[in-house]
Amino acid sequence: MTFRAFEHLVYVRKPYDPESQMLSVYIPEAYFKGGTVNGFTAETAPIFMPNGVGGYLPGKIEEPQEDSRHGGANAALYALSNGYVVISPAIRGRSLKHRNGYETGKAPSLIVDYKAAVRFVRHNRKTGRIPAGDTEKIISSGTSAGGALSALLGATGNAKEYVPYLNELGAAKERDDVFASMAYCPITNLENADMAYEWMFHNADEYYGRGFARSMAAADRDASSYDTLPNRPDNAPGEAKTGTPISPDQKAISAELKEDFSEYLNTLNLRDSLGNHVNLAPDGNGLFREYIESLYLASAQDAIDTGEDIKDTPWITVSDNTAVHMDFDKYIAAVKRLKGVPAFDAFDMSTGENNEFGTYNIANKHFTRFGLEHSSLVTVPKRKEEEAAQKEKDEAMRLASPLEKLRLQKANLEEQMEKDKLDVSPYMADSNVVAMMNPMSYIGRADVQTAPHWRIRHGALDRDTALAIPALLALKLKNNGKAVDFKVPWGYGHDGDYDLPELFAWTDRICKIKDKAAEILKTEKKKAEAKAKEQA
Ligand code: DHB
Repeated sequence: MTFRAFEHLVYVRKPYDPESQMLSVYIPEAYFKGGTVNGFTAETAPIFMPNGVGGYLPGKIEEPQEDSRHGGANAALYALSNGYVVISPAIRGRSLKHRNGYETGKAPSLIVDYKAAVRFVRHNRKTGRIPAGDTEKIISSGTSAGGALSALLGATGNAKEYVPYLNELGAAKERDDVFASMAYCPITNLENADMAYEWMFHNADEYYGRGFARSMAAADRDASSYDTLPNRPDNAPGEAKTGTPISPDQKAISAELKEDFSEYLNTLNLRDSLGNHVNLAPDGNGLFREYIESLYLASAQDAIDTGEDIKDTPWITVSDNTAVHMDFDKYIAAVKRLKGVPAFDAFDMSTGENNEFGTYNIANKHFTRFGLEHSSLVTVPKRKEEEAAQKEKDEAMRLASPLEKLRLQKANLEEQMEKDKLDVSPYMADSNVVAMMNPMSYIGRADVQTAPHWRIRHGALDRDTALAIPALLALKLKNNGKAVDFKVPWGYGHDGDYDLPELFAWTDRICKIKDKAAEILKTEKKKAEAKAKEQA
């Protein structure tokens, strides 16, 4: 495979960190000689834009390589040999410091950089500085935090919230929507992920997460005091060989979060393909649970159909070569709970996600009201207690004599003034920034161009986030008319890029259908013009 590389192009005019805000362009050699690869030309070649982010840490440029983790070509090289133009950006992440000493990789910088890179590509393809590729067929891809980022890019096309950030960097004034988004095990919808995790893993009595998930520095991965399993991708939190018990206090917290999940889910108003509301009762049972079970069952069925022997899988019942039942508790016992309680917004602000939601001068913050209310670092009034107190006050006011009413009003006012003095912003992420990291809040918005094509994968053994999280993303996309290929691959844990032939068969298909449709439209238009001429 011969290709040309245009390397290390800084993609914004005013970078905070040029090393982290540059991209490389790789183009199949054939396109410089008027040739075709896999039916594509220099003009029609799709543009594959993978990101190398993991753990919400800085992402490196994904260079084409022959010896990937899964053996053979990595995604960039595989794409090139199938005629794709590959453009891979480096992206700032949560641990990055500016040379002035301040943080420069906190949310939302990751997505702002990805968008800036897309804008750069559109701009420079127009000017010819990038000599090949179709900017109407940009496909993003990533794994885990990188999968979350790919989903976010796909969901938020041209959303106005990001514009001030893009302008600050001197990003090109171009569109930043993409054609397709590919997300492997996206660690996304973070402010709701704790609830989803407890909904799925509440019944576990221990967890196997190791220090890193709960610490800030990537370097901690090398700490030899942990006896860890070598089964984890770079920059993902580690897994210990032995479990840590979940205390009764943590169980109580877990129960609260679990119950809150049903409430959250029901506000989403999602429907299955038959139009039924996929809701949950307060006890966590209901159609959504059946839907999640059906995803695992479909995964098992795929394995059976490809001749795999899954007899020894304790959480799947097989009858007559059909996967007929999934047992949640047996699943948890077999795959083991990975994360502590809560999984993402830790009360001591010790997770990578707490670190991601820091600001230029504060390393870590909470990003959920629940985390803030239970914080071990700050005391704030609890919302549920406040609501109860307010009810009592309203009742007292109702029953009070006119004179008492005046006194109560004054007391309430003084109390409110005390409360207003409480500034939680050093401990709690800005809700606008939290929303800007969540694809869910953009899907279905009339002023946003969400990608029409999606491919989402979450391995059947993945416990880095609950399957509910990518499932909600897929459902919301489908409910909003997007084409979604969502599967739970059997036998895979927290991982990505393990099925490149299938991935690129999918991208080929959607790109060729788009080109064919464009061709038909063009012919129809020509015909209509000819007819109009004839009639004139
Ligand atoms: C990743 C994994 C996690 O469990 C997490 O919380 C964040 C990121 C990752 O592998 O990128």
